[in-house]
Amino acid sequence: MSHPSANPLVQAFQLSTGFAQTQAVVTFVRLGVADYLRDDTKSVEDIAGHCSAHPEMLYRFLRFLAKTGVVELDDRQCRLTPVGQFFRRDMPGGLTKALEITMFEPWQKAWQQLEYAVRTGEAAFPHANGQTAWEYLEQHPDMSNVFNAYMTSISQMSAQALVSSYDFSPFDSICDVGGGQGFLLKTILGRNPDIKGILFDLPQVVKNVDPGELAPRLGIAGGSFFEKIPSADLLILKSVLHDWNDEKAISILQHCAEALPAGGKVLAMDMVIMEGGNPISLFYDMHMQVLMGGRERTQEEFVRLFAKAGLRVTRFIPTPSPQFIMEAEKA
Ligand SMILES: C[S@@+](CC[C@H](N)C(=O)[O-])C[C@H]1O[C@@H](n2cnc3c(N)ncnc32)[C@H](O)[C@@H]1O
Repeated sequence: MSHPSANPLVQAFQLSTGFAQTQAVVTFVRLGVADYLRDDTKSVEDIAGHCSAHPEMLYRFLRFLAKTGVVELDDRQCRLTPVGQFFRRDMPGGLTKALEITMFEPWQKAWQQLEYAVRTGEAAFPHANGQTAWEYLEQHPDMSNVFNAYMTSISQMSAQALVSSYDFSPFDSICDVGGGQGFLLKTILGRNPDIKGILFDLPQVVKNVDPGELAPRLGIAGGSFFEKIPSADLLILKSVLHDWNDEKAISILQHCAEALPAGGKVLAMDMVIMEGGNPISLFYDMHMQVLMGGRERTQEEFVRLFAKAGLRVTRFIPTPSPQFIMEAEKA
């Protein structure tokens, strides 16, 4: 990414001090400034009183954040910008959960070992923390709860966009493989009253999921997609393949192929790296490598990945969310 008009020294300086911006938005969320401001304009003194902050330091802090585009500050009157709205805890699809998990110490330690990942091509998380991210989450239910809530918040951001981009009505049954706490599947079943669903994820992830009023149509199954996947006409893999390197991703797809009845389809939902595409996909390409040894992929890489599992990609469907829908069937 180049910024031809920007001063190269300022750009280099901003790159070197990016940690301060992340820490500033974390502090902004922890103070609850965005939750207090919502759509209003308030004085710095009013915000300081409500959020238990030092008024003059808060003024300097908000002046710094105004430069990064999070708030507008005029004569000590402050309001959120559209960017700042994403740091409200009540904003569906907001970023507060993502920030919370980014600040987990083991996550931070993994990113500090980016050099290890670049030198070896391996995940940095086990190198930094002595166990994989999945093992860590299994042993730390408190962190796992935050992680699952984070995934749900991402699904809230994209579920409507994904569900309105594909016609699910021809299918009798759908299994959401690695479906987390079921937000996407519940959204699909909510819109398609004749479809039955199975939410499939690790036992500790699905054990407390409540099917609610969808209970007669929504089954819950705990297990591993490296062993056996429940059969259904449509198998969904949302934000799953990017967690894994090619070898593991092919293994998941092979288990999908085994579970697929005649005429069944696999739908993967992931970002796709492309020229001029979404720059967030390039961040996640690094993030997945650091945390899990996973990666984002180009269209061609997805087609090859599916082919190695005996599946043929039939369609790449762009959606209003950052993710594509890739539809595949047995080759
Ligand atoms: C990145 S999250 C995506 C969750 C969900 N599909 C979503 O988009 O919100 C990956 C999911 O894979 C699940 N997972 C990891 N290893 C698994 C395994 N061996 N078998 C089944 N699910 C697994 C995790 O528990 C997690 O819910």
